[in-house]
Amino acid sequence: MRLKYLKNLWKRGTDFLGTEYAILCGAMTWISEHNLASSISNSGAFGVLAAGNLPAEVLEAEIDRTRQRTSRPFGVNLITIAPNFEAHLDVVMRKKVNFVIFAGAIPPSRAVERVKQNGAKILCFAPTLALAKRMVKQGADALIIEGNEAGGHVGPVSTSVLVQEILPHVPEVPIFVAGGIGTGEMIAQYLLMGAAGCQLGTRFAVAEESIAHPNFKQRLIQASAKDAMPTPQFDPSLPVIPVRAIINEGTREFSKLQLQLLNELKEKKIDKDTAQMKLEEFWMGALRRAVIDGDVERGSLMAGQSVGMVKKVQPVKEIIQELVEKAEKKLEEIFDVGEEGV
Ligand SMILES: Cc1cc2nc3c(=O)[nH]c(=O)nc-3n(C[C@H](O)[C@H](O)[C@H](O)COP(=O)(O)O)c2cc1C
Repeated sequence: MRLKYLKNLWKRGTDFLGTEYAILCGAMTWISEHNLASSISNSGAFGVLAAGNLPAEVLEAEIDRTRQRTSRPFGVNLITIAPNFEAHLDVVMRKKVNFVIFAGAIPPSRAVERVKQNGAKILCFAPTLALAKRMVKQGADALIIEGNEAGGHVGPVSTSVLVQEILPHVPEVPIFVAGGIGTGEMIAQYLLMGAAGCQLGTRFAVAEESIAHPNFKQRLIQASAKDAMPTPQFDPSLPVIPVRAIINEGTREFSKLQLQLLNELKEKKIDKDTAQMKLEEFWMGALRRAVIDGDVERGSLMAGQSVGMVKKVQPVKEIIQELVEKAEKKLEEIFDVGEEGV
């Protein structure tokens, strides 16, 4: 398909990523390994490996395997608050990874400097305008703004509001939009607002090439948008980063754990940092149980509200072609009507 409108509209994104399409498959812990990342890149979009809390040597092997399967660009997503973060940083330096995406919290300046000195491009998540500007000053080459509709750990503000608050005010770098995107039509809208491209997660989690357990994929296919809910925080004395997932027994177990930790905090049996670490460890383990072992009752079914647009298991290439064609068609409708009206 000839991309009359998309080609220009997302040029900043494709130039930055070195891809045919300015679509990223966002990192998904346990899911975004070499099979998915290389399939995405080989289909013209941008694949990302999730470091999660993998042992450093496993991350290193994943980078090697991805390179064996694709010669196209891909990135590695590092979680700055993961216990293995420093070891992961050493791996991406040693392996001379070209794109590093920092997630979890504002990356430490020395980590940004190290990666830049190594010649890699840096992408950071921007939860507010002030932080977006700070990260650009600190050296981010591009930003991702991810709204509350997204799957996994989420901020409080919706994608549509973040886009208005941040996109027009940070012209220095390309900005990619994520959270709740399920269709090409939506990609077209964000591009029209000035996005350089879009990042999707949930739709690719059920791709044929995703190693997620068939039970996990089926639960996502059955779910509708309202089933993917963020976890609540019970008390400010134990701050909880909300996680959007399909409600199941695992969600209820998380609530029980939160209450138990709150009691232990009150009785001074545990400190706040340890309690928060235990909550994060819960998610890592619970997500693995659902994604790898297929325990969809007690494991975590992290998914965005975009889950309502996940209808079947499809090859990566087909998902990407569908997104691109629908985005281009939407743009044709908009611009061709405009021309007729003149
Ligand atoms: C199962 C799952 C795991 C995720 N893990 C990570 C992660 O490790 N690092 C990260 O930056 N984002 C993570 N995300 C967020 C995705 O990269 C992406 O930004 C998000 O899924 C976009 O929203 P969508 O699911 O509505 O498309 C995860 C999302 C899901 C659904």
